Formats: sequence, structure tokens, C-alpha cells
Amino acid sequence: MNHFIWYPGHELLLKDIVRAENCYLYDSTGRRYVDLESGVWCTSTGHGNPRILRVIAEQAAQISHTGFGYSSPVVEDTALEMLSLLGLEGGKCVFLCSGSEAVEYGVRVAQSIADRPLFMTMTDSYFGAYGSASLRREDEWFCFDWAECAACSLTGECDERCAHWRAIPFEEIGGFLFEPGSSSGLVRFPPERLIRSIVRTVRKSKGLLLVNEVTTGVGRTGAWFGYQHYGISPDIVAIGKGIGNGYPVSVSALSRVVVERLGSREIKYAQSHQNDPLGAAVAREVVRVIREEKLIERAVELGRVLGTGLEEIRVRTGLIKDVRARGLMVGLELVDDAEHSFTIRTHRELIRRGFVVGRRPGVNVLRLDPSLTVERGDIEAFLVALEDVLREQETK
Ligand SMILES: Cc1ncc(COP(=O)(O)O)c(C=O)c1O
Repeated sequence: MNHFIWYPGHELLLKDIVRAENCYLYDSTGRRYVDLESGVWCTSTGHGNPRILRVIAEQAAQISHTGFGYSSPVVEDTALEMLSLLGLEGGKCVFLCSGSEAVEYGVRVAQSIADRPLFMTMTDSYFGAYGSASLRREDEWFCFDWAECAACSLTGECDERCAHWRAIPFEEIGGFLFEPGSSSGLVRFPPERLIRSIVRTVRKSKGLLLVNEVTTGVGRTGAWFGYQHYGISPDIVAIGKGIGNGYPVSVSALSRVVVERLGSREIKYAQSHQNDPLGAAVAREVVRVIREEKLIERAVELGRVLGTGLEEIRVRTGLIKDVRARGLMVGLELVDDAEHSFTIRTHRELIRRGFVVGRRPGVNVLRLDPSLTVERGDIEAFLVALEDVLREQETK
């Protein structure tokens, strides 16, 4: 394992995974692990989902990739399905490969039509590996720190009563890029009151609402999209990860209003894998599987089992500081020291016992984002193991 470059800060703990099926990973000796992270939160309908595999084989045998001068009906068909799912009928989609690309595309569109130069986002949001939203130059981005908003005692809309609110330069802001929940791996959900107030104020001056659904989309939070928990209607939506179930496809969807404001203006963005029929076919089938197999309802139900179980362990052990959960997106903040040694030991021991969970380097947070197809029995077995591991590691 010396000849490829791994993610910075992340421990490569299992080097011998040779096969995967639904929520299970198998090493070359046949040992099974329960994947409660679904890769990097991608395998929404389970590793090797038979319906997705079939579509990949069939579409690849027909046509997987197109050129600058020709396309295939599956791309238009998937675009229509995505727009209908998002309530953005009359808009347009572009299919790309990664979440970073989908966010960047949406930001470039918004920047090209916005009336004001500055865009707003939250300090703890993550948008991808490159691009304007990731770099966040001060002349392009105003970043709002909402850390104190969660405990705010004011009622009604956010307004001038609040010093944090007064510091937002709304008169310069042309758009708001909202990430409804992942927060750089910490899993934090900004308060509905704050988000609705920001959206209303930005909209008053014809500002745009962009939503990054790369992590929170396609059922992860117990709704099709994370923004639906906030009662807001975006102009631009970036979707990635779960929409490909592990295949690299992403979507940037634009509303009819955005398309009209764009008019004949061209978006200066082109890459080789753009609107590939294979990616579009996968995205369409993922949506169909989730809808037909009622996986969102399943995410709500199993999210309740997981969230309640974790909360009970928190109360019983006193070793968990906070359980942050929405659907099957869960962050578990442990009680730990500045070195995070308890979190690191707990993470390693859970994996040793056969439960793959996520750990973001440098913080006390473990992360669970299982496939929507996860079995209840695996969640229950994990809860038993977690309590045991927490108690065991506390004494070390
Ligand atoms: C919230 C969020 N947005 C965007 C991205 C970028 O997606 P990708 O890694 O597919 O480029 C990520 C990746 O983890 C993410 O968590």
C-alpha cells in the first residue's frame, strides 16, 4: 500500500477489502464488516445494489459517454425526473462527476447572474475540493458563524435585535449558499429560524438561494433533500454522492427563474464527463429504487431506532457529549480530551469488532451515514457494541 496517496489525516485501517454487498464489506479471508458509513456517504442504496448493477451493465453496453456534438435520450429523461423531484419544472440540469463539480457549477452560474458581488455561507460548511466556494476569498464570500444561534433565546424572525445579524452585509449579498447539515463532517444542523430569516432577507433583494445537497440529498436525512426540513425553495441545487450509489455522477439543477436570468449567456464550464449517458442512467435508477422501495420512509424509521438508541447510551454512560441526528445522518460527539485519544481508540475498536463508522481527524466526532437499505438488526448490534466499546475504552 505504498504506491497510492491516501486522504490526508485519515487512517487506512482496512487494507484488504475485496468485496461488498449492501452494508457489508468482506476481506480476502471472508471476514465481514458492517459498513455504517456507506463509503464516503455514497452508497445510498447499498453496495452492489442489483438494480443499479443491471442498469450500469445495460447502459454501458449501449452508450456510456458522448461527445460535444451528440447526446442520448436518457440524459434528457433523467434531467426531467430530477427537476420534477426537486420541484424545479421548467429548469435545467447538468450532470457532472463529483459533488465538488456540482457545487462549483452552481456557484459559477449564480455569480454570473447575481446583482451583487458577495455571496454568503456558513463558516463550518464544506463545499468540495476546489473552486470559489471552497477557497472563499473575502472579496467573494461572507462567512457567517452561527455557533451561538443554536442557543438563541430571541423569538420570531432574526433581525436587528441581534448583533450577529447586524454584522451581515445584506446590502452587498447576491446569494446564499446553504449546506443543510454536514458541516465539515461535524454533522450540525443550523436552526430553521435562522435559515428562513436569511433566505427571506436575501430574497427581498432578488438574491439567489443555492443549496448544497451533496451529503444531505437523496434520502439521507429522512426527506428527499435536506432543505425540505427548512421549508425553503432553492434556485440552484447541487447533488452528488448518494445519487450515484458509488458511481461518480453528480447533478447541478437550475430553476426556471435562473435559466431565464441566464438567457443566452453561456456558462464557461466544460469537462469531458459532462452529461454522460451512463451517469444519468445510474442517477435515474437510484431515484427510482429509493422511491419504489420506500427507502426514505425506511430512513425515517431506522433513523429513529439509531437516534433513540444513541441517546439512551448517552444518558446511561455519560461518555457521549452530543447526539446529532436527522434521518440516517448522525454525528456522535464523544466526551474526550484535546488529543481525541478516546475517540481514536473507540473508532479503531469498533472497526476491529466489525463496525465501520467514520471519524473526522482532529475532532471528537464519530459519524454514521449507513445506506438507506441498512438492516435494523445491524443497527441494534452496533448499539450494543458501541456501549460496550465506550465503557471498555474509558478504562484504558
Ligand atoms: C457537504 C459536501 N459538499 C461537497 C462535497 C464534495 O463532494 P465530492 O467529494 O464528491 O467532490 C462533499 C464531500 O465530502 C461534502 O461533504
